[in-house]
Amino acid sequence: MEYFNSPREKFRSLTSSRTILPSLLACDFANLERDIHELEESGASALHLDIMDGHFVPNLSFGIPVVEAVRRVTDLVLDVHLMLSTPESYFEVFKNAGADGITFHAEALADLDKPNQNFARNGCRVTQFREIETVASHIHSALDKIHTLGLAAGLSIIPPSDVEILEPFLCKCENILIMSVMPGFGGQKFDPRAKEKLSWLHNHVMPGTLISVDGGVNENTLADCKNHGATGLVMGTAIFKNNQTKNNFVKLNNELQAD
Ligand code: DX5
Ligand code: ZN
Repeated sequence: MEYFNSPREKFRSLTSSRTILPSLLACDFANLERDIHELEESGASALHLDIMDGHFVPNLSFGIPVVEAVRRVTDLVLDVHLMLSTPESYFEVFKNAGADGITFHAEALADLDKPNQNFARNGCRVTQFREIETVASHIHSALDKIHTLGLAAGLSIIPPSDVEILEPFLCKCENILIMSVMPGFGGQKFDPRAKEKLSWLHNHVMPGTLISVDGGVNENTLADCKNHGATGLVMGTAIFKNNQTKNNFVKLNNELQAD
């Protein structure tokens, strides 16, 4: 097994090629270890873990003991996607649970700074975002906090948010996660607004940054994501459907790696 100096460095190894990040939200939780080992055997290098608080998003998923359990059975890169209203309170516990990278939502911190706006539902527009004086420093300090823990830092936006709000933070992120559905549930339809955002990121991110897309990515939408510059393809339903995890992964990965 390859040796890495830190989880952050381990996460960065993903950026040397295009990567599928299977989202465990769609796995068979009664057979979690089996599903993870099937993905390892199929050539997966990372897993995406969706953490929901029933507040930032209208759903609950799983939490710390499940991340710990996943870490006990695999050395794959663990990409933890926090859909939480107060993500910073949980960076350290998810590091201790085994995360290599932590991604949080810009909208969550904007909500904290302007509690009446509900950016988590309506998205952040560039114009509004510039008016929220404290949010940029809040986001910078959250990204720094993740790095201080030795982890890769990721920032995400929901479909109604403008991608340009991410610009001041790009130099601090190992992962940018463009949501192509409203977060909270698997199995939704891909929102095509993600495509332009991916293209914009392709022209703006630093080398060594994963450009991820999450939600409704499947055999029909994969090529579009790839052609618009996505390098991290989060897929739940498309990977675990029909009890065909290995076949699904191999087929989708072949398509992703083809020129
Ligand atoms: C949604 C989650 C996604 C979800 C994707 O809030 O962030 O990671 O698992 O699921 P699919 O691929 O089924 O859209
Ligand atoms: Zn996710």
